[in-house]
Amino acid sequence: MNKNILITGGSSGIGFETAKAIAAMGENVFIVGRSEVKTQEAVKEIIAATGNKNIHYFLANLSSQKSIRQLAAQIRSELDHIDVLINNAGGVFPDFKLSEDGLEMTIATNHFAYFLLTNLLLDLVKKSEAGRIVNVASGSHYRGKIDFDSFTQNKSFFTLTAYEQSKLANVLFTQELAERLKGTTITVNSLHPGMVKTHIGNKDMSWYASAIWTFITNLAAISVEAGAKTSVYLATSDEVKNISGKYFDKCKQKEVAKLATDKALQKRLWEVSEQLCPTV
Ligand SMILES: NC(=O)c1ccc[n+]([C@@H]2O[C@H](COP(=O)([O-])OP(=O)(O)OC[C@H]3O[C@@H](n4cnc5c(N)ncnc54)[C@H](OP(=O)(O)O)[C@@H]3O)[C@@H](O)[C@H]2O)c1
Repeated sequence: MNKNILITGGSSGIGFETAKAIAAMGENVFIVGRSEVKTQEAVKEIIAATGNKNIHYFLANLSSQKSIRQLAAQIRSELDHIDVLINNAGGVFPDFKLSEDGLEMTIATNHFAYFLLTNLLLDLVKKSEAGRIVNVASGSHYRGKIDFDSFTQNKSFFTLTAYEQSKLANVLFTQELAERLKGTTITVNSLHPGMVKTHIGNKDMSWYASAIWTFITNLAAISVEAGAKTSVYLATSDEVKNISGKYFDKCKQKEVAKLATDKALQKRLWEVSEQLCPTV
């Protein structure tokens, strides 16, 4: 039977290519996007490229807890199980701005969306014979630090610092979730896709930050097809079916930042996340 694979941020970049590659394997693919036109286009393109007609979409603003809750409710009404949840949607933000839930936008989109959506869909993943959760993090996590006050307050906001923190949060969340899922059949792993030629650094950014991103990616980034490889590997390969709580780069396990192995920090992040974003 085909697997149900849910991918956030499937309307462009790495998420789109991940969805396309998994669609080519014949699975049922559900992408989450925020723009109806763009997400519909993505679905059409995937069907045209792969011939797989089992491609569907959901819409949500993943910076909003209300929208994530509505998304989870809709998914629950349409799917009886999820085999693979790929948390991939993310962004960078030029200035300090609070989400409608009072959270700084980078951490709201890049960490709290992973945290909330996963928790709201966990029982559907448990209904799979061997469910997997894949969290797209980044090598930026090695430079990350967690400042809990910065989740809700402007503490000398700097785009890269906020991004690095959110990606460290992805790895810490993965480690803690793996711990909590011990004894179940679900695995959860995180990954670095590589520096990938997408438009993540062009959206919402100032013209000069956008120009720097375009320059760097033209010079040094890998293609989106190559950038999707580790996500596809973690979502589908038999080689990793029993591996959980690990971090991958180029389809190989890699040590995480020392800070990401701090068990007290993993637990504290989970507790703070629950306080700022109840999962029930
Ligand atoms: N590119 C890299 O070099 C790189 C390196 C390391 C890690 N990553 C990680 O890879 C993941 C994908 O990034 P990418 O480079 O593929 O970026 P991208 O091309 O900008 O794709 C990001 C995806 O997330 C969606 N998204 C962003 N904010 C959203 C929101 N509030 N609600 C719903 N959807 C939202 C975007 O929707 P739209 O299509 O509407 O914009 C898009 O589908 C991110 O987690 C990023 O941190 C990327």
